[in-house]
Amino acid sequence: MQRTITISFSYQEFETPEELTPDDRELISVARESAVNAYAPYSKFRVGSALRLESGIVISGTNVENAAFPSGICAERNVISNAVSNHHNDKPVAMAIAAMTDDGFCDDPVTPCGNCRQVIAEEESRNGNQIKIILSGNKRTLITDSISNLLPLQFNSKSLKVNLP
Ligand code: THU
Repeated sequence: MQRTITISFSYQEFETPEELTPDDRELISVARESAVNAYAPYSKFRVGSALRLESGIVISGTNVENAAFPSGICAERNVISNAVSNHHNDKPVAMAIAAMTDDGFCDDPVTPCGNCRQVIAEEESRNGNQIKIILSGNKRTLITDSISNLLPLQFNSKSLKVNLP
């Protein structure tokens, strides 16, 4: 018998920075500082990401483009690589993302691309915790509790029947 299943998710929308928690404000400001340093001469779309780890450490990443376009990498995957490489046993608990063009920071929040959603989802699934996603724009900030909200019906290690270490 055919059934229709509806998946829904919620996010919070904030109009002013004052409405955010100090921790979230800090993470956004690190993401914005980071965006300024992006290497994006081709798209001129500079993205910064900031990751809060369970210990409280905050690390950042930017997009790094390349003349061979597919060799470029997004800010979100760069910061996850940094966490895995340099903060091995410290789980990511929140990620902020901010983007800018030559006209300044974007008015509307930028959401992570599909590849990045997949990589952030792997962190959630291997560490067994949710990663709060904070999408920052000049006009508003969107916050959702977990990358799973942005990647329903995800493909992960369970599909491969692999038990992660
Ligand atoms: N980009 C990111 O770094 N993160 C996103 O969430 C969206 C896109 C980068 C990839 C490329 O360097 C540029 O932005 C334009 O797509």
